[in-house]
Order: sequence, then C-alpha cells, then structure tokens
Amino acid sequence: MRLLVTGGAGFIGANFVRQTVAERPDTTVTVLDALTYAGNRASLDSVAEGIDFVHGDIADLDLVDELVSGVDAVVHFAAESHNDNSLADPWPFLQTNIIGTYSLLQAVRRHEVRYHHVSTDEVYGDLTPEEPAFTESTAYNPSSPYSATKAGSDMLVRAWARSFGVRATLSNCSNNYGPYQHVEKFIPRQITNLIDGVRPRLYGAGHQVRDWIHVADHNRAVWDILERGRLGRTYLIGANGELDNKSVVRLLLAAFDRDPDDFDHVTDRRGHDQRYAIDASLLREELGWTPRYSDFRTGLLATIQWYRDNESWWRPRKAETERAYVASGEQTL
Ligand code: NAD
Ligand code: DAU
Repeated sequence: MRLLVTGGAGFIGANFVRQTVAERPDTTVTVLDALTYAGNRASLDSVAEGIDFVHGDIADLDLVDELVSGVDAVVHFAAESHNDNSLADPWPFLQTNIIGTYSLLQAVRRHEVRYHHVSTDEVYGDLTPEEPAFTESTAYNPSSPYSATKAGSDMLVRAWARSFGVRATLSNCSNNYGPYQHVEKFIPRQITNLIDGVRPRLYGAGHQVRDWIHVADHNRAVWDILERGRLGRTYLIGANGELDNKSVVRLLLAAFDRDPDDFDHVTDRRGHDQRYAIDASLLREELGWTPRYSDFRTGLLATIQWYRDNESWWRPRKAETERAYVASGEQTL
C-alpha cells in the first residue's frame, strides 16, 4: 500500500510512521508535515531512509492534490492540537483543522483515494462523574476552539462521504501518552519538570479526569480501521484508562521518589472539560482490537524512562514552552 501520512512529524503521527515502517515492509510511506512548532524531524530520524518526507502545508491545495494522486490511502493526523494554544489564538486552528481537512477531502474525492480521519473524543464535550462513557452516537458538544475545529472537520468528512462517496472512516480517540509527545502537554510537561527538579503544575483543583491510552495502542487501532473498518463509520478508541489529573501527578511524584504533595496548583484552563471517557465496544467487538498497554502505571514508567533517555529530543523546546505558559498568565494559586 502507498500511504500519505499527514502530521507525521508530530507525536502520534511519528509513532504511527515508526510503527508502520517497522511492522509493514509492504507499505510505502510519504509524510506531509509543515514542521510547525509541534513538528520535529528528529522524531523520524531512525526511519528517515525508509520514507519520503515532504515539508509542506495540508492547506496547499496544489501540493496536496499532487501527493494524493500518487497514493492508495491517506491517514490524516496533522492538526493544531493544543487546547491552551487555541484559547490564546484560535486562528491557526481554523486554518489547519478546517481548511486543511477540506483540502485533503477535495483531493481524495478527485482521485478516489481511501481516507482515514484521526479525531478526538473532545468533540463530545465533557461528562459528569455519573454519566456513561461516550459512544459513537453521543451528540457533538465541543467546548474549546480546538475541539470545535476538530468537530467541524469531522462534519466535513461525514458530508464528503455521504454526498460525494468518499471512502472515509473516522476515529475519535481519548488522551494519548508515550514517547515523542511535545513538552507542552500535561504528562511530558510534568515529567520534564521533575527531571529538572521543578514542581509539577496542576490546573485548578486537579479533579479533571482523562481516559489515558498508550499511543501505540491508538495507532494499532488506526491500522485496524484503515484495513477492516466499515466505510462511512466512526470508531471510538479508548483503553479504559480513566484517571484524575492529581492522581497522575502523584504517580509521577512517586516515580521520582518525591513527596505526594510536592506540586503546585496553578490557574485553571478557561472552559476546562471535567471528564472524558470512551466506550470502545464497537472497535473491540467489530474489529477485535484490544490494548496491549492495559496497565497505565507501567506505560507511564516506560514513558518517564524515554524522556530520561532522550533529553536531546525535548530539551531545545522546554524553556520556550514554559515561557509561553508564563506569558499566557499562568500563576501559582
Ligand atoms: P501534534 O501537535 O503533536 O502534531 C501535529 C503535527 O501536525 C505536527 O508535526 C505539525 O507540524 C503538523 N501540522 C500542523 N499544522 C500543519 C499543516 N497546516 N500542514 C501540515 N502539517 C501540519 O499532535 P498529536 O498530538 O500528534 O495529534 C495528532 C492528531 O491526533 C490530531 O489530529 C489530534 O487532533 C488527534 N488526537 C490527538 C490526541 C492526543 O492525545 N494527543 C488524542 C486524540 C486525537
Ligand atoms: O482527549 C483527547 C485530547 O487530549 C486531544 O484531542 C488533544 O489534542 C490533546 O492535547 C489532549 O487534550 P487535553 O487538553 O486533555 O490534554 P493536555 O495534555 O493539555 O491536558 C491534560 C489535562 O491536564 C487537562 O485536564 C489539563 C491538565 N493540565 C495540563 C497541563 C499542560 C494540567 O493540570 N497542568 C498542565 O500543566
């Protein structure tokens, strides 16, 4: 199979490309990535010989048309992905997540190419502690500019599938963790703070719940859906990993032999979603997918070790990322 992977220099995309090169020698991979602040060529260093890398924008209609004309399928990861950034400046989120997806959809429509759209559980908004987990039929109710643009992009895909017959599938996954995640995100931010001897920073009271899944399990589900998913269908991806933020910080503190209260509460996020939870029954029952990382603590310890071993990968972005948090008004409570 000839595959175009957008956003392949980002966290999930790079893990997807590395896994694909390692496990599927019959697949040729072209990566299209704009190398924004979130993209990192170094994440693909060990597979650089085995892929084609194109530095470009998914909103560039001519470039996308040319690349799509030469492949059998597109897996679309590229996005502006960080909620806090979308609160500071929503515009890049509209441009990349909406216009960029439009550009890809027009190309796969023209060239009749199979398309898989990678999306997020955040399109469903949040849950109270009592509500059942999200399913494929939960109503869309996004909270942030990021999740609103992802919801908009999902709607474009559904429309192009129904009205133009695009052979598309969608997946909406919960919070990923693992290697190569940017230090702006919760888990890598706290791990790299702890490596530097800095106290972890918890937004508000820290009672918000996220449903953690290892990035490798997410990507195996994407392959299952690409190969065997029903066209036009949405699959939810999650690994029953619900945990509140304070408990995650305490697991990290324990791994660094630090006191369980050795963290700071800082300014809460505007519109902060309280709880996400995924019911992945459809994926499990129809496609037989199961997560390999069933124990979050074990996966977290491996992730800590990865950041310890790969300081040269994250160090150049750390100070700048922390400066951006200060500039955004983050303060200790
Ligand atoms: P990321 O921010 O780490 O990576 C995004 C990549 O897209 C970067 O390499 C960046 O350079 C590239 N990119 C951004 N704008 C581009 C453009 N206009 N043209 C080409 N490339 C561009 O993101 P991630 O965490 O790896 O997320 C990947 C996808 O998975 C996103 O669609 C996101 O919504 C979705 N998702 C993420 C999570 C999560 O927990 N991280 C969970 C569910 C779904
Ligand atoms: O649910 C899937 C989504 O997960 C993806 O669509 C997004 O692309 C991805 O960024 C992630 O969104 P979150 O907003 O949940 O992830 P983030 O890592 O930013 O924050 C996780 C939780 O931790 C959230 O409740 C906010 C909190 N937090 C975050 C940071 C950076 C803190 O308490 N302290 C922090 O320093």
